[in-house]
Amino acid sequence: MDKRRGLLALGIETSCDETAAAVVEMLPSGEGRILSSVVLSQVAEHAAFGGVVPEIAARAHVEALDGIIAAALADAGTPLAAVDLIAATAGPGLIGGLIVGLMTGKAIAAATGKPLVPVNHLEGHALTARLTDGLDFPYLLLLVSGGHTQIVLVEGVGRYTRWGTTIDDALGEAFDKTAKLIGLPYPGGPNVEKAAARGDARRFDLPRPLKGEKRPDFSFSGLKTAVRQAATAVAPLSAGDVDDIAASFQRAIVETLRDRVAISLERFHAAFPGLAAPALVVAGGVAANKAIRAALEGLCRDNGFRLVAPPLELCTDNGAMIAWAGLERLRAGLVADDAAGFTPRSRWPLDEQATPLIGAGRRGAKA
Ligand code: KG4
Ligand code: ZN
Repeated sequence: MDKRRGLLALGIETSCDETAAAVVEMLPSGEGRILSSVVLSQVAEHAAFGGVVPEIAARAHVEALDGIIAAALADAGTPLAAVDLIAATAGPGLIGGLIVGLMTGKAIAAATGKPLVPVNHLEGHALTARLTDGLDFPYLLLLVSGGHTQIVLVEGVGRYTRWGTTIDDALGEAFDKTAKLIGLPYPGGPNVEKAAARGDARRFDLPRPLKGEKRPDFSFSGLKTAVRQAATAVAPLSAGDVDDIAASFQRAIVETLRDRVAISLERFHAAFPGLAAPALVVAGGVAANKAIRAALEGLCRDNGFRLVAPPLELCTDNGAMIAWAGLERLRAGLVADDAAGFTPRSRWPLDEQATPLIGAGRRGAKA
């Protein structure tokens, strides 16, 4: 018996170093349900290189993707025939991986006669809070990942205005580079967080980049340089030094975020004065950091906002957010007739009108 009540999407994500697929249902009410979500991380393949190697990533996607899709369909108990649409990440990200995922999506769509929805990976992150929390528009999104650090006004599906971005490194990149500088293994973020929990956050006096400035942007490269100088000054580093640098770095990040994000909260209040429960959504891998979450929670409380943080497995890259974005696009009538002819875009800003800032998203690999 077909127990479906809504629309079913198969989502495919291959833009960086996670091979992922998921089946998500959108009920007639607009509510979402994740029926399955399978994520294969390539961390082990890239660890020896201290970062993601595009060629290795693309090959790993080729090897894994068909099995991951089969597993997602099996976990959901959904035959491919019952799926209504195929959503695949078409950018931004590493081009090799994007080609693997999008072409697989196109092939499945062509073979089954189902519609294909090419999805912007950032839109996947941006709309996740509607899947998990049923959030209404408008809201503010803070996207903090390995490749992006942006604060975006989300007013509808496809309606994104970038308010702030990084002028140099992404926040996850700053964590990863700091980890490398003080000898912690890849991936850096979680290891810096662990070391920070043991360390003395007041030992090193690190800068708070752009603090007090009116522009709502971010900058992290000066902080990284200061970490290098601090590490050089006390080298060779003892385990205690490593912990203290990590703690001082994380504290500087937390204070910087509070300062930078506050500007956009104020601007949101001014733009939507009557809104009963304004929300700040935090997404991306760095949103897994508990100190950052706690700081954002405090900031939101102080400013009359609600912090919406999707569960950790939906903050990092996954297929469910891509399936969901595909469903949202279909429902909003935003799937182009020639969608099946879409070619992958390694660079694809969420807000096409926003001027790129120097160095922003330079790595362009992860989102
Ligand atoms: O969203 P994500 O899984 O991949 C993309 O970038 O798309 O984010 C990965 C980034 C990495 O830079 C990683 O170091 C960072 O998120 N990250 C963290 C933590 N967990 C992951 N940064 C700080 N604290 C964490 N606990
Ligand atoms: Zn991402």
